[in-house]
Amino acid sequence: MAFTKGFLIGAATAAHQVEGNNRNSDYWIQEHLPHSSFIEPSGEACDHYHRYEEDIKLMAAAGLNAYRFSVEWARIEPEEGQFDEREIEHYRDVIRCCRANGIEPIVTLMHFTSPAWLIRKGGWEAESTIGYFRRYAAYVTEKLGAELNYICTINEANMGLQLAAISRRFRLMAEQAAKSADSGAKKAEGTVQVGMNFKKMMENMKFAAIENNQAFGTPQPQIFVSSRTPEGDALVFRAHQAAKEAIKALYPDIRVGITLSLHDLQAMPGGESYAEAAWDEEFRHYLPFIADDDFLGVQNYTRTQYGPAGQLPCPEGAELTQMDYEFYPEALEHVIRRVAEDFKGDLIVTENGIAVSDDSRRVEFVRRALAGVESCVKDGIPLKGYMYWSLLDNFEWQKGFSMTFGLIAVDRTTQTRTPKESLAFLGSYRK
Ligand code: BGC
Repeated sequence: MAFTKGFLIGAATAAHQVEGNNRNSDYWIQEHLPHSSFIEPSGEACDHYHRYEEDIKLMAAAGLNAYRFSVEWARIEPEEGQFDEREIEHYRDVIRCCRANGIEPIVTLMHFTSPAWLIRKGGWEAESTIGYFRRYAAYVTEKLGAELNYICTINEANMGLQLAAISRRFRLMAEQAAKSADSGAKKAEGTVQVGMNFKKMMENMKFAAIENNQAFGTPQPQIFVSSRTPEGDALVFRAHQAAKEAIKALYPDIRVGITLSLHDLQAMPGGESYAEAAWDEEFRHYLPFIADDDFLGVQNYTRTQYGPAGQLPCPEGAELTQMDYEFYPEALEHVIRRVAEDFKGDLIVTENGIAVSDDSRRVEFVRRALAGVESCVKDGIPLKGYMYWSLLDNFEWQKGFSMTFGLIAVDRTTQTRTPKESLAFLGSYRK
């Protein structure tokens, strides 16, 4: 099948994961601590900073018509209040390259990485961050707003609460299985969709605290991907609202939204109350903050099941992805339908994908995920696009380059790109 002309079919990336050399960011510092939890530093990543034109052309040649990428706060405002005009010009070039190739740019302002100075000022638990984020959003919009139709303010704004829940569960599992901490850690990592090394983090805790203190002036820096307090959780959404206000004041026609990490939460008999509580925490309690947004970015990777004693492990014999969670492309349709019950603006799938070495499994994943998307569109759900995660095999945070989510393989010694069959397959939905 093919979607109608205006439907956006594309791929997503995030600046830090693909550009390379994001030296003024909090992540860069954490990657280089002697007791880092990262298996390797991001380094040059995919050198997308210099090779974006080649990457965008590959997308266009395959038939894609949208590209979701992020602009990097740590590049644009490397020191508090000092904005770098050259970096804005870089992103203007990227946007223009998209347009020249018939690709709609969807820009994310904040995809996990922050400037190191922001973290030294208390990061994502500090009230002052709202004002800093508003100022940054206004600056980017003032400079680039005339060329944009879509802005995602913050990526997976609910990630901090998910991490808080997972850390609690991880500690419990590790206590229960002190002797098999490995399997406890593996299980916990499989319940978070972003690349994390919980075991390494626990082992490193003492030294990392000292090193973080030296780097950021606090043993527990509040980077974006940290366990959030309820106050910090609300603060992230207030920052979104402040940024949205700033964007709308300059360019009222830009479509503004936030993105959320959403699991397909399934209740087995007796697990209903757990599944409901999890959905409230993951999605429903945010509605007052986002109800008037133009769109919501839906990001889904798998399902989670609940039984009478809480969260269940993956079903026996389930196919697992490299990230240790279940291959379950039907989750996307379920999540879209559920979100549409409460959120009345447009929906865009801003991320959906899998890390696998066998690309034929990716093709199958995309085929089944898009069948769900098509059925939602047919039923009149205002779904405007689908962005596969990710365009390139890239830096999966603490798990380094070991996870291959990409539609395009990258040989990092030569930076040679090799499109996979899944890229053409995704593009075929536009023909
Ligand atoms: C994030 C991406 C990440 C992807 C795969 C999402 O949580 O937005 O940055 O690479 O999932 O784990």
